[in-house]
Amino acid sequence: MRIEEFDVLVVGAGLSGLRAGLELSTKWNTAIISKVFPVRSHSGAAQGGINAALGNLEEGKGDTPKSHAFDTVKGSDYLADQDVVLFMCEEAPKIVVEFESMGAPFSRLESGLIAQRPFGGAGFPRTCYAGDRTGHALLHTLNEQSVRMGVTFFDEYFVIDLFMVEGKIAGLIALDISNGELVSFRSPYIILASGGFGRIFKRSTNAMINTGDGVGAAFRAGIPMQDVEFVQFHPTTLYGTNILITEGARGEGGYLFNTKGERFMEKTAPKAMELAPRDIVARSNETEVIEGRGFEDAYVHLDLTHLGAEKIKERLPGIREISIYFAGIDPIEKPIPVQPGQHYSMGGIGTKFNGDYGQTDLPGLYTIGECSCLSVHGANRLGGNSLLETAVFGRYIGKKLIEKGLPIKPSSSEIQTAESGTIERIERMFTSWNVNSGKKPVEIREEMGETMNRNVGVYRTENELKKATITLKKLQHEFLDTQVLTEDRRFNYGLIRTLELRSMLDIAEATAFASLWRKESRGAHFRTDYPSRNDDDFLVHTMVHRGKEGLEIKTKPVKLGIFEVKERKY
Ligand code: FUM
Repeated sequence: MRIEEFDVLVVGAGLSGLRAGLELSTKWNTAIISKVFPVRSHSGAAQGGINAALGNLEEGKGDTPKSHAFDTVKGSDYLADQDVVLFMCEEAPKIVVEFESMGAPFSRLESGLIAQRPFGGAGFPRTCYAGDRTGHALLHTLNEQSVRMGVTFFDEYFVIDLFMVEGKIAGLIALDISNGELVSFRSPYIILASGGFGRIFKRSTNAMINTGDGVGAAFRAGIPMQDVEFVQFHPTTLYGTNILITEGARGEGGYLFNTKGERFMEKTAPKAMELAPRDIVARSNETEVIEGRGFEDAYVHLDLTHLGAEKIKERLPGIREISIYFAGIDPIEKPIPVQPGQHYSMGGIGTKFNGDYGQTDLPGLYTIGECSCLSVHGANRLGGNSLLETAVFGRYIGKKLIEKGLPIKPSSSEIQTAESGTIERIERMFTSWNVNSGKKPVEIREEMGETMNRNVGVYRTENELKKATITLKKLQHEFLDTQVLTEDRRFNYGLIRTLELRSMLDIAEATAFASLWRKESRGAHFRTDYPSRNDDDFLVHTMVHRGKEGLEIKTKPVKLGIFEVKERKY
């Protein structure tokens, strides 16, 4: 067996992982392990921008990190932990300036300052952008910096399971996708920055790689999933393919219309209109269709035609390209057909109460980015805050661990026992997949995605959620007998899809379970049978564990005290 040994391992080469790796590599022997080549990470798909209270526009002059934090907490429907939100918003201007000094090609104002645009739920125009390809620009910038710093990359390695020694993290087992070899990576520090898990839904803006591999590995190691009932449905995904049509399109002045030619956001957010937070806009779009005012009973129109060709070509070139290629529509001439689609997961790997941001209950294991739940987004994330979160907490965690210093490593015999036990379990699982005769992974995945869309969507009810939990339990059972047809492990993507499904089923089941438990409506979680927010009983984080009898929920308090908890109006 091949063994690799590092001071610290980062899992995931998106913006969170790269930024953490960059910081850690200034002092320590650091490796970044990724399922794909770094610039193919899903951070590259982020379009609209990154928030920071720079006040570069005239209308943004009164903006401050505290207003940014207030908007974020209000947008979160008061479920976000207020201390961590304030920290993120105070770091934001420094992070954007740091990106600029690394060479990130931000769009500019006439004055030469970084351009900013309005985004949903924001009191000021504070979203900095690079056209409509911000994530792409930032990802390439950080990748270049990592190469410059000589960070060690293991690209195209699939992380399967973590192993521990005496209750502390000691390493992980990964599959080298190219040759099918199992490799043991030993380290006393592991940072999971492995991205989201939107692909548990069939209709999603997420890349096919977003399958929650890190969340699954942590869950199997006993770390709960936190707040996974809060799933963000982006209001404007392209009808049919669900490719993201950035909120920046509404930030630049786009309108939403129904078949009656009404700007229907007037009914649900008369002040903010199309720039209300995403949960509200997504529900409004869905309601128009449910109540019969949608086109072809399926979508509404996002109209940009009044912005003019010049603005669309300069500020939204990617959106124009996507609309032309995938819907045959040029937004300069015609409205874009849009519908809500899964976009982001507010929940993720549970973090320690009162620990360092990103610290889990397993000593040595940390988590940042979309796979984690640091709770900066609470029940609903504001657009432009996810790119921000990645870089702020990537840098933070790097600095924090260096400050703590390296822990004493366990003896090599203890590590050998832990890693060989894990490898034996994995080998047994692979062998069983080769001899089983049950359903194919793709069939199980298909049913899971459809179930999540149908029963755990924008609007939820007890009845539908119960159906989802029953189906997902059945699928978990069927997965035990699933089959992988090819035994050759080299570039065996059948095997990779099966390993992905193993985590996705756990996450889907936990999502439905927590949604059933939360008998209230808050942020992106809307129960038509409990349509109001209930702070008395549910102003808490959920922590889903697997107990002896199946899934169980514990709760964790929300950190309040900076902003008063109020009703949300836009
Ligand atoms: O709409 C968007 O451009 C998405 C931005 C985000 O998710 O932050």
